Amino acid sequence: MRCGSREFGRHRLEIQEKIYLVGAGPGDPELLTVKAQRLIQTADIVVYDRLVSPEILALIPDTVSRVYVGKATNRHTLSQDEINALLVDLARKRQRVVRLKGGDPFIFGRGGEEALALARNDIPFEVVPGITAAQACAAYAGIPLTHRGLSRGVQFLTGHCKDNETLVLDRAALSDAGQTLVIYMGLAHLPQIISDLVAAGRSGATPAAVIERGTTLRQRNIITTLDELQQAVQEHAVASPAMLIIGPVVTLAGELDWFMPWAQEMELKYA
Ligand SMILES: C[S@@+](CC[C@H](N)C(=O)[O-])C[C@H]1O[C@@H](n2cnc3c(N)ncnc32)[C@H](O)[C@@H]1O
Repeated sequence: MRCGSREFGRHRLEIQEKIYLVGAGPGDPELLTVKAQRLIQTADIVVYDRLVSPEILALIPDTVSRVYVGKATNRHTLSQDEINALLVDLARKRQRVVRLKGGDPFIFGRGGEEALALARNDIPFEVVPGITAAQACAAYAGIPLTHRGLSRGVQFLTGHCKDNETLVLDRAALSDAGQTLVIYMGLAHLPQIISDLVAAGRSGATPAAVIERGTTLRQRNIITTLDELQQAVQEHAVASPAMLIIGPVVTLAGELDWFMPWAQEMELKYA
């Protein structure tokens, strides 16, 4: 692995180059961290996922090589093992490799598996956190994930399970009505998620939101209840990427939705 240098104030330090596992955030390019932006602009090569937005890809200079390794359900460009092997191979050959992932690399992003592959091959790496979709969708829908008197905590869950395996949700962990639930990849198994939540003791009247394409100008917010969630998703033909938020805090969206009015105004202005 070659070395590079970096400015720290008045000092130029020689540093060993590494591979960077970088979170790109949920879509809005202004939600990239300063560090992520610097890294994608100074990389030799960027290996990126399906959920990295076109606006963020546009920030990568033309001189930087790009490799797309996106995965949609049942449609994978490369398997996870192949992605891990590619990263190891690139890191050995290239000076600066950036692995750019939607949201945060360590939240339902398989960044841990990639980091393990690098660690087990003695390749130095750094993890650059990104704003995860749960936080971003909630913020851009005007839903505080915790709120005094409504929610004492929040759980991030996945509604996805490995190929052909049955989704198993821990009903005991879901039963506390004072916990907001944020569910990634929840559309495919929505009927089961809803029935498990009701079986866990959540009332059918519990407020529920679906945020589609959060933080982009095409964001849609659907506010409903647990009982009506499945029907609402069908009626509005909600598509991935979408986030489910369940709990009393969803009621605050009516007063706190700052983003949709702004996005609609932008659309009218620039249509
Ligand atoms: C494989 S997970 C990756 C999560 C990512 N690592 C993160 O921290 O946000 C992909 C899921 O995240 C959610 N997601 C990602 N970006 C989203 C967005 N802009 N709006 C709504 N949901 C999003 C969706 O549930 C999507 O199916």
